[in-house]
Amino acid sequence: KRAQIIIDRYFLTGEVDKRIYGSFLEQLGRAVYGGIYQEGNVNSDAQGFRKDTLELVKELRVPIVRYPGGNFVSGFHWEDSVGPKAQRPARTELAWKVIETNEFGLNEFADWSKKAGSDMMMAVNLGTRGPEDAKNLLEYCNFEGGTYYSDLRRAHGYAEPHNIKVWCLGNEMDGKWQMGHKTAGEYGRIASETSRLMKWLDPGIETIACGSSGLAMPTFGDWEYQVLDECYEEVDYLSLHQYFENHSNNTPDFLASSKVMDEFITGVVSLCDAVKAKKHAKKSIHLSFDEWNVWYHSNEQDKKIKPWDKAPHQLEDVYNFEDALLVGSMLITLLRHADRIKIACMAQLVNVIAPIMTSDTGAWRQTIFYPYMHASIYGKGTVLLTQIKAPFYESRNYGEVSILDSVCIWDQEADALTIFAVNKDLEEDAEIECDLRQFEGYQVKEHLVLTHDDLKAENTELAPDTVKPVHSAASRVENGIFTSVLGRHSWNVVRLE
Ligand code: AHR
Repeated sequence: KRAQIIIDRYFLTGEVDKRIYGSFLEQLGRAVYGGIYQEGNVNSDAQGFRKDTLELVKELRVPIVRYPGGNFVSGFHWEDSVGPKAQRPARTELAWKVIETNEFGLNEFADWSKKAGSDMMMAVNLGTRGPEDAKNLLEYCNFEGGTYYSDLRRAHGYAEPHNIKVWCLGNEMDGKWQMGHKTAGEYGRIASETSRLMKWLDPGIETIACGSSGLAMPTFGDWEYQVLDECYEEVDYLSLHQYFENHSNNTPDFLASSKVMDEFITGVVSLCDAVKAKKHAKKSIHLSFDEWNVWYHSNEQDKKIKPWDKAPHQLEDVYNFEDALLVGSMLITLLRHADRIKIACMAQLVNVIAPIMTSDTGAWRQTIFYPYMHASIYGKGTVLLTQIKAPFYESRNYGEVSILDSVCIWDQEADALTIFAVNKDLEEDAEIECDLRQFEGYQVKEHLVLTHDDLKAENTELAPDTVKPVHSAASRVENGIFTSVLGRHSWNVVRLE
């Protein structure tokens, strides 16, 4: 099949905000306990942080990590998670029906983030708590000293403030599963008041209001509009969450689902702008897609978990090759909206629906690790408005879908162009062409491909390299025309300089 990518150096979507490659670490399952933290393990450092996990996190170059939830945050008493470990209380954790020992908490997360080279993105509890508590937590984290909570932090051994810049105002408050679930009106008011108080205390922070937990939520649209109607001037971002699954084992349909992500983003941008117009507002609300991934492999297993365990194997999806293809398409979709999406978090980072898995003896890269790493390393610069002319296929649930997803990013500083592309065709290669005569002198530096004959191939502790990227020689530039062959079902990164 033949396809064309069309770009123009003067038609730009926008700068990539590096926070678009963020991730998420929830106090859930083995994400923290046994994932990033395991005292006494041979792979752990003096603070109990798993060094092997840290190495892989650093490979991903994760710019920002959202913490501590997720559903967990809606019952979180942050005071339980600070101070001397021996005095921290164990609590029943209602979101995931487990016992939380609080052995790992806020300050450990701050230390871990420093070692990982990531910024912290903190969520406040607007489920069972409210503005007063959110303000106290902010005071503990960001206030210099000389007040009750800032001095408490100092007494806990942290003289310097954590200076956390980005704050989520609760989590998925539109969902009935959420502790302290609210109507849009109720949530909009509390988000507004919480953000106001927090910004009075620290005007340097940015806040994110909860949008819908997915496009399929029955309240989608009304929720965004009403919430923003209440808190438009007080907040900076609106969140989106979306997970995809392939329970029906229909790969073409599964790969088509990134189309839903695109529709979701377009819809939320329209809703934000509708409220902006109505309010005659000057500022625009940007988007924080702070939970996105594939999530379904572990669903059946999780039903068997007995309640009130500690750090059970929960949400431990083992990803296969086709999941990596969809993750690639989701990354492309995020980048194609870089003008409005400033933050995004792959959910999650370690063990829990994650690119990194651990056991007591090691840590390894899941299939989805690779597109995420490639985007995070090479997806820097300005997104070019990338037009695609490619054949379509008919999918069961999403109608006509292009076989090719692609986006081009131009790093003017480094004088480099990167093309990310997914060929979703399961049978045929795609011969692609792109006129690069405006990018004089650019030649192919590297073409990386992630593919596997078996769409269900997985990486495991015993076979960690079953799915991994290889180099391709299928790309060239001749007389300013770039041509390439993208193998059937493949994720591709072409770097030109
Ligand atoms: O990431 C797992 C869960 O998915 C989060 O806790 C919640 O926000 C979402 O429903």
